[in-house]
Amino acid sequence: MRRRGTRMAALMALAILISACQREGTDPQAFEFVIGVSLANLTEPWRINMNAEIKEQAAAYQDLRVVFADAADSSDRQVQDVHKLLDSGIDLLIISPTDAEALTPVIADAYNERHLPVVLLDRSVIGYDYTLFIGPDNRLIGKQVGQYVAELLGGEGGEVMEILGRAGSPPVMDRSLGFREAVSHAPNIRTVGTISADWLRDRAEDELTAWLQTHPAVDVVFAHNDAMAFGAYKAARRLGISGIRFVGIDGLPGPEGGQEMVNSGRFAATFTCPTGAREAVIYAMDILHHAEGIPKKMILRTTLLTRQTIADGALSPTFRAPASDPGRKIVLGFAQVGKESDWRLANTESIKSAARDAGIELIFRDGEQRQENQIKAIREFIARKVDIIAFSANVQSGWGEVLREAKAAGIPVFIIDRPVDEKDESLWVTLMGSDFLEEGRRAAQWLVKYMSTERQVDIVELQGTIGSAPAIDRKIGFEEVLRDYPNYAIIHSESGDFFRSTGEEVMRKILAELRAQGKSFDVLFAHNDDMAIGAIKAMEEVGLRPGKDVVIVSVDAIGDAFKAMIAGKLNCSVECTPLLGPLLMKAVKDYFAGKSLPVRIVTAEEVFPAELARRALPGRKY
Ligand code: AHR
Repeated sequence: MRRRGTRMAALMALAILISACQREGTDPQAFEFVIGVSLANLTEPWRINMNAEIKEQAAAYQDLRVVFADAADSSDRQVQDVHKLLDSGIDLLIISPTDAEALTPVIADAYNERHLPVVLLDRSVIGYDYTLFIGPDNRLIGKQVGQYVAELLGGEGGEVMEILGRAGSPPVMDRSLGFREAVSHAPNIRTVGTISADWLRDRAEDELTAWLQTHPAVDVVFAHNDAMAFGAYKAARRLGISGIRFVGIDGLPGPEGGQEMVNSGRFAATFTCPTGAREAVIYAMDILHHAEGIPKKMILRTTLLTRQTIADGALSPTFRAPASDPGRKIVLGFAQVGKESDWRLANTESIKSAARDAGIELIFRDGEQRQENQIKAIREFIARKVDIIAFSANVQSGWGEVLREAKAAGIPVFIIDRPVDEKDESLWVTLMGSDFLEEGRRAAQWLVKYMSTERQVDIVELQGTIGSAPAIDRKIGFEEVLRDYPNYAIIHSESGDFFRSTGEEVMRKILAELRAQGKSFDVLFAHNDDMAIGAIKAMEEVGLRPGKDVVIVSVDAIGDAFKAMIAGKLNCSVECTPLLGPLLMKAVKDYFAGKSLPVRIVTAEEVFPAELARRALPGRKY
């Protein structure tokens, strides 16, 4: 109670500076949680909408008070706002940063030093010092706009002008990059002008009025938000210029919103950019209630809105009733990769037990490490008319045909763990699992810090299954970091297929080859712990002391890796969680409840160096 009283006093003082939101007539002492919300600005319609959604969602919780601070687009002011919110004793911070670089230190401080949960909305910071990020993939949005514009202009092509939001801000750079990447494949499309209008309708109108005097024949105006696209439209009208197609981003409802612009024919298209505000409040409350399985990142889906796609139901929830009989269980067909590792066994167990707990009927098929078995299983699920298909892709390529069959049958597909490399993201609802690139980076970052040496470091790499996403991305991420350290070299790289036994065999062979050449090596980077453990056995057979003569870093953080670390034979394991079952079942249920799901959910993971192993082992779940 004393904490609440003190906090109340601090909040009252704060309320003079910033606005607070609380249900009328509520006893100020009655709330249990205070969430501080730091907004970048409250001038753009999209951000006004974000603010309103936070308020609406927060009103669903009796025990929650939300305190808002508006930085008016100033990074300095936002840093101060965060300090004030922190000092007032908030329980959690939701922040949509003005600028990644400027806000990173204060957010990292709140998260690391003050142990405050932090939810990032819309824009991220540098690094991983936060609890959860919710936002769009702006580069992907830009790409989708570019693909749409290329289709709109057809083989003849044409001229495009681009109106940017605030110059230098991350969404602007990413949207522009994605757009240019996409139109670079269409040689007949020329970008003939770029202006910056700070996300503002009136500025876009003024700027475009001047620009159109010299370019009245431009074919498409692509603006980074709908407000600016509307300003551009007004400029063209004012000058009596017709025939320009306007494309925006945001797709908001309401007067002057993108949906209305498309429906009235003023815009050719807009792309939805959900604010993620409701999800931020829901997840914030889950975090405050110590719920398990909070992801690290949720990337929100973007939808193309044209008159046609709206008429086809693009704005309606993806909900498909599971059955005419509401009492019937949801039926989920799951096509697993196989049984290659302890990770995979834990993953299978997690899916089976979560399905049981969620009351979902699971039809489980083991692909026994063969893609054709998984494809056969998916076709069986389609024939059986299951409600949902989920799978983890053994290898990245070759899934297009079967995914199109599932789509044609109207069965939603959820991808877990290993992604596919198909471009058409409408073939699946969501992808949930680890960031394999980041895992590779983390392994290398830990290594260079641990070795801290200028001398030559020779590395042997045991790759996972050739063609699988974790093998491809872990390698790329690892090498990306090592590019800055030219004294580190991968002298041998071979696949151990993620199996312990193959890791052992391959390492035995590598050791014999290196010995024949009179060579040795300093480090083993294994794409999973099982292969590292197999390799440890092979090294010991030839009298090497793994963990000492050879530094070993691997990925997964399975129980046996902790035992190896405690025994001093493994130096570090980068976590990759297999416990995806609860996340999958929650997503399945949310889907059938009509909620829109993020296109990508990235799980939260840690790095475990050997010195932490003894302390961490008792809490490990796989
Ligand atoms: O796809 C995840 C990878 O697959 C794990 O890191 C590996 O152990 C598993 O077999």
